Amino acid sequence: MKVIRNIEDFNHYRNTIDKQQIGFIPTMGALHAGHLSLIKKSVDDYQLTVVSIFVNSTQFDNKNDLNNYPNLLDDDLDKLKSAGVDCVFLPSFNHIYPNGYNYSVTERKLSKSFCGAHRDGHFDGVLTVVMKLLNIVQPHKAYFGEKDFQQLTLIKQMVNAFFMPVEIIAGATIREQDGLAMSSRNLKLTIEERKIAPELYQTINSDLSIEQMKIQLVNYGFKVDYLEILDNHLLVAAYLGSVRLIDNVDIKNPEQKIMGKVA
Ligand code: PAJ
Repeated sequence: MKVIRNIEDFNHYRNTIDKQQIGFIPTMGALHAGHLSLIKKSVDDYQLTVVSIFVNSTQFDNKNDLNNYPNLLDDDLDKLKSAGVDCVFLPSFNHIYPNGYNYSVTERKLSKSFCGAHRDGHFDGVLTVVMKLLNIVQPHKAYFGEKDFQQLTLIKQMVNAFFMPVEIIAGATIREQDGLAMSSRNLKLTIEERKIAPELYQTINSDLSIEQMKIQLVNYGFKVDYLEILDNHLLVAAYLGSVRLIDNVDIKNPEQKIMGKVA
């Protein structure tokens, strides 16, 4: 597995693999089975698989969240190697933002609601870094999780809007046995919070009305940012203590609604 830490070296590598099909999975590290399921999709597709690990500071509206973001690079590299990844790209802030954060991609509509209404500038940061990474890596396919449904939707829209030559592939949400959607942020939950956390998924997966769901979540101790429908998916974001969790269910697909997808 090649480990590449700057754009010049990546460009050199990219020239050597020019004739091959490339699958790309951008991540912020602290890898879990959710990330690995996207990687497996790419590896299983008989193509060169490139994974990036870059904790993109421009998408963090909260400095604490950024400073506390888990850094598990050695573990991550082991996992990527075992998963059959061909190349890991580990750029630094200065590589990705050579002139600072002077240029950005802004979506003017969907990015302002749901998570965007609560996290100022978050999706500008996400879309900007994803466009930069796609331009550097130039993959044929790029993989994103349905766990971050609004992010996935915005990335698909951006690729269409800018005629970017890449196919976006969605991966189902991977969950713990108790239904909690896997997330790097789950590591930040206290033992007590971790016990309550699965109620987020259980509640949005129940037959309650949206209003009743909100009440139930508050009773469990969640502070709900939003609980709303986007493209046949019920999306939720809620704080448990200082940890902000997001999840969603496909309300048109009862099988997934009942079963979820367990790792
Ligand atoms: P990160 O949170 O590291 O997630 C990387 C990819 O893994 C995203 O596409 C995300 O949707 C997917 N993912 C996370 N948890 C998942 C789960 N439980 N099941 C399935 N897929 C899951 O999302 C980001 O990083 C960043 O915003 C990024 C796109 C890398 C831009 O900085």
